[in-house]
Amino acid sequence: MSLLETYAALPYVAHAYPQSDPARFGVVGHLAGMSLKPPSKARILEIGCAVGGNLAPLAARYPNAECVGIDLSPEQVDIARVRDSAATYSARDLCTLASTDGPFDYVIAHGVYSWVPSTVREALFQRIREVLAPNGLAYVSYNVLPGWYGRLAIRDVMLARTASVSGPLEKVRAARQILGLLATNATEGPHRDALREEAARIRDEPDAWLFHDYLEVFNTPVTYRQVVEHARADGLATLGDAALHTSQLRSLDETADTLLKQWSDDAVTYETYLDTLRNRTFRQTVFAHANTPLSSDVGPSHLHGLHLRTQLLSDGQGRFTDGTRSIAAQDPSMTTLLDQLGSAHPGSAEFTADQPDDIAARAFFGISTGAVTASLEPVPAVRPSRTPRLWQGAMDMAKRGETALTNLAHETIELPEDVLQVARRLDGRKKPRSGWSKALGVLAAHAFLDA
Ligand SMILES: C[S@@+](CC[C@H](N)C(=O)[O-])C[C@H]1O[C@@H](n2cnc3c(N)ncnc32)[C@H](O)[C@@H]1O
Repeated sequence: MSLLETYAALPYVAHAYPQSDPARFGVVGHLAGMSLKPPSKARILEIGCAVGGNLAPLAARYPNAECVGIDLSPEQVDIARVRDSAATYSARDLCTLASTDGPFDYVIAHGVYSWVPSTVREALFQRIREVLAPNGLAYVSYNVLPGWYGRLAIRDVMLARTASVSGPLEKVRAARQILGLLATNATEGPHRDALREEAARIRDEPDAWLFHDYLEVFNTPVTYRQVVEHARADGLATLGDAALHTSQLRSLDETADTLLKQWSDDAVTYETYLDTLRNRTFRQTVFAHANTPLSSDVGPSHLHGLHLRTQLLSDGQGRFTDGTRSIAAQDPSMTTLLDQLGSAHPGSAEFTADQPDDIAARAFFGISTGAVTASLEPVPAVRPSRTPRLWQGAMDMAKRGETALTNLAHETIELPEDVLQVARRLDGRKKPRSGWSKALGVLAAHAFLDA
């Protein structure tokens, strides 16, 4: 089957990816001193947008932005057009993108670089450079080595098993079956553990994901260095990972960290060591034009203007918890920061220029550890009103019968049926019925309600 046939036979899973929101990956440029267009008023291009699962909620959230999606697969583009009228979709090969299509302030290419033939991969950064506005930012994600070395062995065995099986779902069934069988019967030891871990990870993933990640014609994992060098050759500078907290490893002891830094000729080598320590499989990297003036001081002094948010809330007994982890409130500056952000929850609080240095330092630490998320756009905190309203992007998904909805922070959250039943009725005109308060609480806490 060709690439066009595989996506026509089984469209890719519709999904929103939080780091691909320009308001999120734009933070990397903001911290490097770039003066960026607010995503809510920007021109945004998504390359390889499939059925619009990522672009549609962005277009709903930023009605004054111009959102354009292109994908090679006409079948997927047709589905995107039916689902979403806020963005413009066209069936196009990314290799045909030209400067006349631009300029775009933000370009997103999620899940494309590793999933296309080498000629298209070679063209991707050139095309991005052509359409990217002078002060624009691009986000490109890809499968990365060394983490994919182990998965390639599994992909190979799945491809061998399914070569003579016809039909995408039949192939997926056969692939799941052989992985299960190998994981059960493998020789005892770390290899068996790895197979079992992979079988467990894949078990709950959708069929379309497994089909396009493991059985797709193209899946080329690359090293971080290969990507950085490829982008550089095509005139783009690498700013860093869209998920800022992945550029450090908190579990790494200080001596080992010092040595790894000593043994690194450059930041890319250090990042590659971290990829190896983590056995990392996936990266989301942010790029700008090579001639973009960037600040060498990426740090707390650039925080003002960002909108900060945390899930770590005070338990009223001296600890902050997000339901899965809990930290003691030992540091007074950190406690002040988390209290400030907690009072804005589930929305964000703007970090203003008058914040003292110690709070700025803790906020920067929080962002670099993942405890705090930063955004170029605010996330509203809307409590249930007399006539509560689910935000439009989530309402479109709920009405289609989807159970995982995207919230106002571009996060996709799986909701139980009782909450979904209430969600579908929140059109901003009805008064809540008795019995809705638990569901309304869940929807408000996860930033699903609009004013
Ligand atoms: C792995 S899927 C990722 C889809 C989506 N971005 C996501 O992550 O949910 C890769 C997508 O790239 C599209 N694609 C492949 N080659 C392309 C090309 N030359 N030009 C534009 N899109 C292409 C495919 O049709 C498919 O929808």
